[in-house]
Amino acid sequence: MKLTRKNLTINEAENLSIEEIKNLYTEFVNPKQTKIFSNFPFGKDVFSKAEGMYIFTKENKKILDFTGGLGVLNHGHNNKRIMNTRIEFAKKSKMEVHKLVFSPYLAALSHNLSNILGSDLKRTFLCNSGAEAVEGAMKLAYRANKGKKFILSSDKSYHGKLIASGTISGSQIKNNVFPKISNNEFFEFNDINSLSKKLSELESKGGVYAVIIEPFSATLLKGCSSEFINGLIELRKKYKFSIICDEVYCAWYKCGEFFYFQKFSGFDPDIITLSKSIGGGKSSLSALVSNTKTYDKVYGSYETATLHTTTYNGFGEECATAIEAINILIDENYEKKVKSIEKKILENLKRLSEKYPKKIKGYQGEGSLFGIEFYSLIDQFEKLLINIPSEKIKSKGTLISKLNIASICSKLYSQHKILSFISESNNSNFLYVAPSLIVSDDEIKYFFDSIEKVINENIDLELIKYILKTAYNVIK
Ligand SMILES: Cc1ncc(COP(=O)(O)O)c(C=O)c1O
Repeated sequence: MKLTRKNLTINEAENLSIEEIKNLYTEFVNPKQTKIFSNFPFGKDVFSKAEGMYIFTKENKKILDFTGGLGVLNHGHNNKRIMNTRIEFAKKSKMEVHKLVFSPYLAALSHNLSNILGSDLKRTFLCNSGAEAVEGAMKLAYRANKGKKFILSSDKSYHGKLIASGTISGSQIKNNVFPKISNNEFFEFNDINSLSKKLSELESKGGVYAVIIEPFSATLLKGCSSEFINGLIELRKKYKFSIICDEVYCAWYKCGEFFYFQKFSGFDPDIITLSKSIGGGKSSLSALVSNTKTYDKVYGSYETATLHTTTYNGFGEECATAIEAINILIDENYEKKVKSIEKKILENLKRLSEKYPKKIKGYQGEGSLFGIEFYSLIDQFEKLLINIPSEKIKSKGTLISKLNIASICSKLYSQHKILSFISESNNSNFLYVAPSLIVSDDEIKYFFDSIEKVINENIDLELIKYILKTAYNVIK
């Protein structure tokens, strides 16, 4: 094959400068997203190493990673036990691809998942992303309740960005400019009356095959109430639908529980979707786990057994990684770790919000997934920006309010060497406090001391410059 350009080697990739990387992103990945990331100070660094709670730039600048990898890094970066599992797997040339033969790793992981999920959640299907698990769960519930037409989800939900998972994501309605599946409706988050009313309305129009919930919403940083869950169980008895619990974000102790649904006694969802920290921060793995009744109804015959498959179905090293990742959570008592992290974060949030009632609007969360809302540090300036007569800036209504927390996030990085993140959703405006579950008390203290310093600073030119630049990029 004659190439017009020489392909880059791994060594050449590792030696690219930030400008060269950005040029490649602009040309071969996503030009505007490259611009957005470039506005943040961390968009000016290249990272070459990651260990535990820290990431290191090429120049060996040490950054405290307080993002928890958005749910992927409960074990921190490059956990030693997980790394060793993978190194051993590779060293012994274990079999990775097993499409036509049995895999001991897939078998063991499926056993372990059922073991920790309890109830009759016994049938596992392994795939690769949260959205893929959700869509598999939707197909399963649809066929298990044959003849019924509708699926219900919450108005604030997030279940992914594929066609079906995007359609049912209530928090994404405005952004969902793509084809949609038919027959989905929304109920108000955590409102049993709203759900009950929808079920009753839809009964005569074909009935509901599934209600999908996030037992803990990572968008609102709130869990469902016992009242809602008990009501949901009662409604399932009456209307006979499947309950899908989307635990993609909140499982693996991220929100305080091994699985958040286990917080509610007597709650037995029909299908669970899982991902993120199941892969120990090293493999992109997801799963749906169903009770036998539901699964066998749909895929329980010779004719139907292979109706839902995928090429990358639980490859060897991914499964070995997940087995180790889950066992670490148990062996190293992550339950205790997360309770202590939650206590420390809450103490700090309470202290700061009492000390700065005019700066901190509120906070929300559980386990190691919290968010802080701020009053604007740039009030007058915001008003000025809102008045700019630009259609684009109006249609990007959330931009202005996001700039405030974006500026805090930027300062945490540039002045205190902390990587954090802010909500993407239109439904919330949080600076997330969501460290990995290996975070130490000192690191939590450092994070909050740094927040305190940032909110105590006077508005400076650098901040105004940053805001103007971001607004300009959007208007342009
Ligand atoms: C609750 C929930 N469900 C589904 C998804 C989609 O997962 P993915 O981005 O891997 O497709 C996410 C992603 O954050 C999520 O938080």
